[in-house]
Amino acid sequence: MTGDTWGHNRLGHSLQLSPTKIVPMCGIVGYVGDNKSLEVLMGGLRRLEYRGYDSAGIAVIDDEGRLNTAKRAGKLAMLSNELKRNPISNGSTGIGHTRWATHGGPTDHNAHPHLGDNGRLALIHNGIIENFAPLKDELLAEGFTFESETDTEVAAVLLGREYQRTGDLGEAFRSVVSRLDGAFTLLAVHQDQPGVVVGARRNSPLVIGLGEGENFLGSDVAAFVEYTRRAVAIGQDQIVTITPGAVTVTDFDGNPVETEEFDIAWDASASDKGGWSSFMAKEVSEQPEAVANTILGRIIDGQVVIPELTDLGDDLLAGIRRIVIVACGTAAYAGQTAKYAIEKWAGVPVDVELSHEFRYRDPVLTADTLVVSISQSGETMDTLMAVKYAREAGARAISVCNTQGATIPRESDAVIYTHAGPEVAVASTKAFVAQITALYLFALHLARVRGALSPEELAAQAAELQAIPEKIQIALKEADTVRQLAMWMSDTRAVLFLGRHVGFPIALEGALKLKELAYIHAEGFAAGELKHGPIALIEPGQPVFVVVPSPRGSAHLHPKVVSNIQEIRARGARIIAIAEQGDAAVLPFADTVIHIPLAAPLFEPLLAVIPLQIFAMELATAKGLDVDQPRNLAKSVTVE
Ligand code: G6P
Repeated sequence: MTGDTWGHNRLGHSLQLSPTKIVPMCGIVGYVGDNKSLEVLMGGLRRLEYRGYDSAGIAVIDDEGRLNTAKRAGKLAMLSNELKRNPISNGSTGIGHTRWATHGGPTDHNAHPHLGDNGRLALIHNGIIENFAPLKDELLAEGFTFESETDTEVAAVLLGREYQRTGDLGEAFRSVVSRLDGAFTLLAVHQDQPGVVVGARRNSPLVIGLGEGENFLGSDVAAFVEYTRRAVAIGQDQIVTITPGAVTVTDFDGNPVETEEFDIAWDASASDKGGWSSFMAKEVSEQPEAVANTILGRIIDGQVVIPELTDLGDDLLAGIRRIVIVACGTAAYAGQTAKYAIEKWAGVPVDVELSHEFRYRDPVLTADTLVVSISQSGETMDTLMAVKYAREAGARAISVCNTQGATIPRESDAVIYTHAGPEVAVASTKAFVAQITALYLFALHLARVRGALSPEELAAQAAELQAIPEKIQIALKEADTVRQLAMWMSDTRAVLFLGRHVGFPIALEGALKLKELAYIHAEGFAAGELKHGPIALIEPGQPVFVVVPSPRGSAHLHPKVVSNIQEIRARGARIIAIAEQGDAAVLPFADTVIHIPLAAPLFEPLLAVIPLQIFAMELATAKGLDVDQPRNLAKSVTVE
């Protein structure tokens, strides 16, 4: 591998990057078309509520040309109730917002939209305007007044002033964005310009939906997938104007820019609960399809070919000496799981790093390192910054992502999409198994181009992967047993999870799910580490989940884990074993055994995680908690 192919041979330690931005999450939707703004906005907000649920608000221009707004602290249901009590007239133009508060409490006052131009203009925002204080001083000195403490209202008032000066929303926008420092997606409507929504984007997501006689804007395609499957991603520092018949995108100076349309693979029903009690329950059940759809078209005659990687070139992939996986949360555990497969099949060393740790510790990036990011949303700021860092350092970066048009794929050299469909519940489930699937496909693609496995070996692993959807379906059948267990354990205060080899990241994921959903102290440990500390936590009655490796496939590890079980059982632990069907060795020592179907060792994680997801979901349900929207969390963490 030459330096030419990869850029520099040795990459600098102290790269100067553009300052990182702190971007609050929030969901944004905009609409122009016929007379149904309210339905579109509320439906869009419902699908975007995973991005934040501290408050919600809408602004609609009705047929009389009046701007009507409604906003409420709390979940979207509070806004729906408010609209039932005090209906507003529907119209052809509107914007809606759902907030995850970072600055300013989650109050009615701080909820978006904020108003400008004497209540004639409404604006919503996702981001932080860092220089809002001097701008506010400037506006106060001119006699403007404010009703909230937010930076967003400063942008709204400023936009109102610029509208007064220019008489055109687009021009006013260009003038305002040139004054703003920070990160933002802004959308605005003005009652003097019905049929027009203008948006701007810097470091925060925004996507256009193309309709017939109507157009849409959204933080992601879920906002409008009910109405159209045609979309356009907006680049950094661009302004978009939508009317019912036209979409115009320019840079911040007003120069037209090229855009690219793409088809949304999801259909609308995919982002509805479809009769399930929660999005999470539905998404857990969709895992066989998530894996099958991610495989679809990528295994031909037993050989894995990922078309999205062909542009990178086989030579480049063949020359890789090291892979660094960057991700956060559940996605990082998918990376940790895949490390075992990539190293075994492709023979390339893999480091798995939390994006935020990678980004801020001057990582050594050699010329033949490939950075692989994993992100369901494609918007996680920590991961985005890690990818930007790696690329500014000259490294190549590929991403594994579930959301078309998202920022991280746009910032990467190539993307392998997972095809899990929209994941709405905050706690990730189907995206996790789809991420492992995509990474296994990547590992096999890599093994093929590097000649690390024979065609027969490649075909055998591909066949194992193709069998997984059916096996997940079988694993899902244990749901009743797991539900009962969860109900018995609903007052449990702490749970431990043990796993070894690929069972270790699954233990970590099991613990994370329980923390996120049931607010129970839960820790995952490598089973081999037990004697080096965690065993001190064991006292009579302590529940411990143990992910047991296969006695057939992992004959050398299985007895070690069974010994671990005996050690903690002797000290009073209550053992819940996740074990392969027919594993008789665990039966005498486990209080409960949850069976998973037989699979080759590297594929067991895709099955062992299923009961752990269900356990966390059912325990949270037994405690009366909201499994789709756990407290303090948001699905797409666009803050560093
Ligand atoms: C948040 C979510 C997690 C998710 C993580 C990474 O913390 O609550 O469920 O795993 O972000 O999200 P990403 O979209 O990058 O996969």
